[in-house]
Amino acid sequence: MKLQCVVISAFICATIAAPTPNGMTFDAVQTRDLARLRARQSVNDESDDLINGPCRDVTFIFARGSLEPGNMGIIVGPEVCTALQASLGADAVACQGVGPPYNATLGDNFLPQNTSPDDIGAATTLFDLANTMCPSTKVVAGGYSQGAAVMDGSIQALPPAIMSQIAGVVLFGYTRNQQDDGRIPNYPVSQTKVYCNSGDIICDGILLPLPAHFTYGSNATSAADFLVSML
Ligand SMILES: *[C@@H]1O[C@H](CO)[C@@H](O)[C@H](O)[C@H]1NC(C)=O
Ligand SMILES: *[C@@H]1O[C@H](CO)[C@@H](O)[C@H](O)[C@H]1NC(C)=O
Repeated sequence: MKLQCVVISAFICATIAAPTPNGMTFDAVQTRDLARLRARQSVNDESDDLINGPCRDVTFIFARGSLEPGNMGIIVGPEVCTALQASLGADAVACQGVGPPYNATLGDNFLPQNTSPDDIGAATTLFDLANTMCPSTKVVAGGYSQGAAVMDGSIQALPPAIMSQIAGVVLFGYTRNQQDDGRIPNYPVSQTKVYCNSGDIICDGILLPLPAHFTYGSNATSAADFLVSML
């Protein structure tokens, strides 16, 4: 229960720098508990396969949610990467998280695009890189929470040649689900799958993370299956 509260605090409690009973701030508690969660799940929250090379058949570019660690986060990104590699072969899939300048801050959720132009630019840089460095790789993409807004803002504005390299996109707990009618403008609906679980009101345009917002790890295999079906 405490862990769940702390993960939820990624959105809420972190903004309240009140001391906890043992004198730690919520920030400190959150950092500590996220580290514990990471250790326990041995989730790899950092993937730089595209940047490090070599090019692989498939490149999965993922943007994490607010305050998640690493560049892949821990809630669903690494799980989709693992499921893609299980399905296609570890050497066939490069996983790449959207890193700096996307820093997944809370405040950026409240900007007009539910993330910042710099955050969106960080994803666009990676789509450009995949296109120039690995022109024959098939790109698939994903985003969770603010990361879904990052993917939305980036993909809808890509030049056609780069957009057409993206075979499929999965979005989890999509913060712009309502504004953008459950899709990414300009990008084919048939190549997009949005996971919005029952009770996740963030998908209804209310930026309040309830427990359902943290359940998308259970949809990782389904999401990977969808992306594989788009290749
Ligand atoms: C996040 O990155 C932006 C640049 O895109 C920078 O202005 C801002 O200070 C950074 N915020 C944090 C908390 O690191
Ligand atoms: C995500 O997984 C949960 C648990 O298996 C399931 O109930 C839910 O329907 C799935 N969500 C979507 C959008 O498929």
